[in-house]
Amino acid sequence: MNNQDIINEVRRKNDIVDIIGEKIPLEKRGKNYFGVCPFHDDTNPSMSVSREKQIYTCFSCHATGNVFTFLMNYEHKEFSQVLSDLAVRVGITLNGVRVKRTSTKYDDWYKAYDLANKYYQNNLLTKEGEAARNYLKERQIDDETIKEFEIGYSLKTRDDLTKLLTLKGNSLDFLNKIGLTNEDHDIYTSRLMFPLHDLNGKVIGFSGRIITNSKQNKYLNTKETDLFKKGKLLYHYHIAKEAARISKSVIIMEGFMDIIRASTVGIKNTVATMGTALTKDHIKEIKRLSNNIILCFDGDDAGVKATIASGELFASEGLEVKVISLPNKDDPDTYILKNGKDAFVTLINNAIFYSDFKIRNLSRNRNFASSEDKANYIHEVLKETAKIEDNIRVEIILKDLAKKFEIGYNTLEKSFQELVNAKNAENSKEQEIKITTTPRTSQLKKKDMYQKASLSVIYYMLNKQEIIDQVESEHLVFPTEALRALESEIVYFYHKYGFINEADFYTYLSPKKELVDLLSEIIELDLKSEPSKEALSDYFKVIREYNYKKTIEALEEKIKNESDPTMQIKYAEKIRELRIGES
Ligand code: UTP
Ligand code: MN
Repeated sequence: MNNQDIINEVRRKNDIVDIIGEKIPLEKRGKNYFGVCPFHDDTNPSMSVSREKQIYTCFSCHATGNVFTFLMNYEHKEFSQVLSDLAVRVGITLNGVRVKRTSTKYDDWYKAYDLANKYYQNNLLTKEGEAARNYLKERQIDDETIKEFEIGYSLKTRDDLTKLLTLKGNSLDFLNKIGLTNEDHDIYTSRLMFPLHDLNGKVIGFSGRIITNSKQNKYLNTKETDLFKKGKLLYHYHIAKEAARISKSVIIMEGFMDIIRASTVGIKNTVATMGTALTKDHIKEIKRLSNNIILCFDGDDAGVKATIASGELFASEGLEVKVISLPNKDDPDTYILKNGKDAFVTLINNAIFYSDFKIRNLSRNRNFASSEDKANYIHEVLKETAKIEDNIRVEIILKDLAKKFEIGYNTLEKSFQELVNAKNAENSKEQEIKITTTPRTSQLKKKDMYQKASLSVIYYMLNKQEIIDQVESEHLVFPTEALRALESEIVYFYHKYGFINEADFYTYLSPKKELVDLLSEIIELDLKSEPSKEALSDYFKVIREYNYKKTIEALEEKIKNESDPTMQIKYAEKIRELRIGES
């Protein structure tokens, strides 16, 4: 048996329903099984698992795949590891099966960062690392935590890292480019080193902290590279993934030390930015962890400002945001050190809604001396309250406000209702504009039609081998490069192995990341297993007509840009031929 045969055999013997069923409860409905999807913050059973096809699909977050990809994502393991786990389970020996690791153009980068990481960590254990070890001890960071966060130390400058890395075959140009050296020299000297991991846990940079009182920047980060972007990186994300799934929430903090401290007391569903404001990219990634966000920034004014700025961003994405307010002088690190785990857990459990935090914050620095000041404040509160959907909370806020300023509840209620009505009118106007500015259906529909036809034909190629033969014998050409690439992979797989199904083809295609999304989209169509003859010939027709139209358009464009009249005639002739052929 060759590699692929053994891999397919391992997949076939490990029934996907059994394997996924061990991780999440599945319930049979019709011919499929359904469960709560572990790959996004799900409350409804949106993941469907098919015993017949041996694949899973989440209709909410669009995760798709076979038993291998499920375990790779669920357990954060490489393909080779999952393959051997599953082989052991069903008693298949993998002797000699070589799993091609997918190489990327960044492999050399990762290798260099890993080496630097090991080097820094080792320094901490040497004699010269003593000052750093003492610093950590003073801050009550124990050995286990040092190991977990891979904390290291950079030596006084002798360019030791530069030497080590060049000795291992890295050029200085390369090292300068990837931010491990600067102008051919070591960057970090006598700093505590924190490796920065990407979302999947690969080291892509460092942050170095001074350990003495000095005028230098407290933290020094790797410069921005292709891999390390401050606006995208979230510290501790790769660990928080698992923890957020279990606790169903994610806590956002400001600094590394906050994250590390929280981890020492077992709170690991935490991420931090690199001392910058949250960006849209950050939010996108955090959203994948959970819909329940808890902001836990420093207790100072800057922390309050950051809370408001981030709170607005999260709330505008429809996430549920809560806020923990720390005493003015504390950050999560010092708070936990002073008060212990239980006190901090109590803070988490008593986190208040962001809207309440914001309303509370509106009264800061106000003395309510004039009626104008009071009225302004009340209007601002009402405006915030209008964003809250929970009627009970709205009533509580209005009642509090009425009491505080000794205003009749009805007066407040009336102002509030006016505000809500105005807001609704605004919304429906916006919607109207949207509807009238949508382009007339024709163009959109056309695109939808050929797209749908192409995806459907490929779906059937995967499910019914005769369709592969038909696509080949009729020389059907798919309209985009990605579709053509996918088609040729299907044809290749089918001819090589003599069969095809979605689950095995998925394994085969996995290294070709750019095609996997397209495949997932196709699998998710979940069409009837057998197309009707009419439907199929319709699809073929739509694709052909689209190609025909595109070819003519291209020729017309050529005529427009061509100055040589003989060439123009030649193109026109081609168009004529095509038109005759079509009718
Ligand atoms: P903090 O000053 O709050 O750091 O900055 P911290 O995590 O509490 O660290 P300790 O307790 O003083 O050791 C918050 C974050 O801002 C970034 C770092 O990511 C830091 O964790 N920062 C701060 C920098 O990038 N450079 C700096 O000079 C300072
Ligand atoms: Mn701190």
